[in-house]
Amino acid sequence: MNQSRIGYEHVPEQDASRAARTWWDENAAEYHDDNGAFLGESRFVWGPEGLTEDQARLLGSREGVVDKKILEVGSGAAQCSRWLRAQGARVVATDYSHAMLEQALIYNERAGSQHRVPLIQADARELPFADSSFDAAFTSFGAIPFVPDAERIHTEIARVLRPGGRWVCSVTHPVRWMFPDDPTSHGTTITRSYFAREPYVEFDEQGQLEYAEYHRTIGDHVREIAAAGLILRDIVEPEWPAGNANVWGGWGPERGALLPGTAIFMADKPAA
Ligand SMILES: C[S@@+](CC[C@H](N)C(=O)[O-])C[C@H]1O[C@@H](n2cnc3c(N)ncnc32)[C@H](O)[C@@H]1O
Repeated sequence: MNQSRIGYEHVPEQDASRAARTWWDENAAEYHDDNGAFLGESRFVWGPEGLTEDQARLLGSREGVVDKKILEVGSGAAQCSRWLRAQGARVVATDYSHAMLEQALIYNERAGSQHRVPLIQADARELPFADSSFDAAFTSFGAIPFVPDAERIHTEIARVLRPGGRWVCSVTHPVRWMFPDDPTSHGTTITRSYFAREPYVEFDEQGQLEYAEYHRTIGDHVREIAAAGLILRDIVEPEWPAGNANVWGGWGPERGALLPGTAIFMADKPAA
């Protein structure tokens, strides 16, 4: 990254959408160099705390996911989908970054036919699937933080889920945006208002927007999910577990003992 200016400010929505896709394409390799060991190739973690779907079972019990049609959006290299496939689910992984899906292809090859998952390049706001075609959908830190209009993602998910289907999405915990991106106790002093909605942005040396990441309050997320016609069941806030020494940007054990880092929203489409 050669950004020359960073900060928090509103930017045109079309610039943010273009920048996000380019950023993930250009930084996919570096992202996996930095985080690949933690994410694994066929592992399902909901966030840097290391809570796994095997522990949380937010998408269904061990028996409950067998043969279920499950969609992952913003899948990146599709590590989570590969784990679900190994559990017996029928999974499709989607992401709009070509480079992230190329990494998924590499992992697919290494995983072998039992764990390989279908990959489709798609924007989570415009899914190429029929109505009511999935039993469940999820994303672990994908898509939502990188779009200015996340309500479109929830609406698309509600469309492709069958009645009674489940949607689970993890994002950076909204309180985290009040603090600097520092995983130590120095990062525990509030420097921004919880209510400031300007996205975090990075510009290159030519002044072109390179990266945008959006803050939503808890209420914003809840309203967007409800507006899509989904019923919110839970907001899971994983605690930092003893034994996880991994540091990821502003996440780490020191601050993790004091502040939540991840919020996982679990919602259902009403039964018909
Ligand atoms: C932090 S990664 C999460 C993926 C994976 N769970 C991981 O932890 O690596 C974010 C992913 O969201 C994808 N993404 C961002 N905006 C998207 C959108 N509008 N539609 C689909 N994918 C999107 C990016 O390409 C990237 O692969």
